[in-house]
Amino acid sequence: MEILGIDVGGTGIKAAMVTVETGALSAEKKRIPTPRPATPEAIAKVIQKIVKHFNWKGPVGCGFPTPLKHGKCMSGGNLHEDWKNVHVAELFKNATGNEFTVVNDADAAGIAEIYFGAGKDKKGVVIMITLGTGIGSAVFLDGKLLQNTEFGHLLNRHGESFESYAADSARKREKLSQKKWGKRLHKYFDHLNFIMSPDLIIIGGGASKRVHKFIHKIEIDTPIAPAEAENEAGIIGAAMAAKAGIS
Ligand code: BGC
Repeated sequence: MEILGIDVGGTGIKAAMVTVETGALSAEKKRIPTPRPATPEAIAKVIQKIVKHFNWKGPVGCGFPTPLKHGKCMSGGNLHEDWKNVHVAELFKNATGNEFTVVNDADAAGIAEIYFGAGKDKKGVVIMITLGTGIGSAVFLDGKLLQNTEFGHLLNRHGESFESYAADSARKREKLSQKKWGKRLHKYFDHLNFIMSPDLIIIGGGASKRVHKFIHKIEIDTPIAPAEAENEAGIIGAAMAAKAGIS
């Protein structure tokens, strides 16, 4: 069975048809840069375009880069303040006519890794962290997701959120060397490790292809694994969430 998976990110909106039994993506992927300003109207137009591009009438799973509560955005995150209180699945359904399941983007990426990737069959506490425009988190206990955690918004000792301090966008914005960024990542993961005592940490998001470049800088006593689906985990997990009826 195929479901259209869409990953809405701060810089790009990516989509593909996903075979939900295997987590495989159809060869053809579509990426559209996130419109700026990233208002509800502007993003809904892109979603419309994507659904049309795949000529898809069936269910759609979508990962969305803001905290969500009962389907509504709690904040505009890295998109736009107008998202606050918008019910994302309803907006996208109205724009396209398709049924939408919308989950937080990091939760979606985590779901993909738990079903098919680095977190498969892992017991205990598994935390997925996505490093991209923001820092997203997904927490699993024995494979079951605790939705909508926001561990990118933990504060460092200067009272600044770790997201602004250590996301991939901070590395780019401040032109940090791998060494300097690695030090920041170490501080972040050390703190997360201390407060959560996880059994495994999976790193994904935009930086997942480059995990080998910085993983050795994170010196904690918990295993860390790169996301096996790399940056496609968000698309795959969104489709899986639609299949499983998680929202
Ligand atoms: C948002 C999260 C999101 C993360 C990654 C953060 O700014 O608050 O909900 O998962 O960015 O996109």
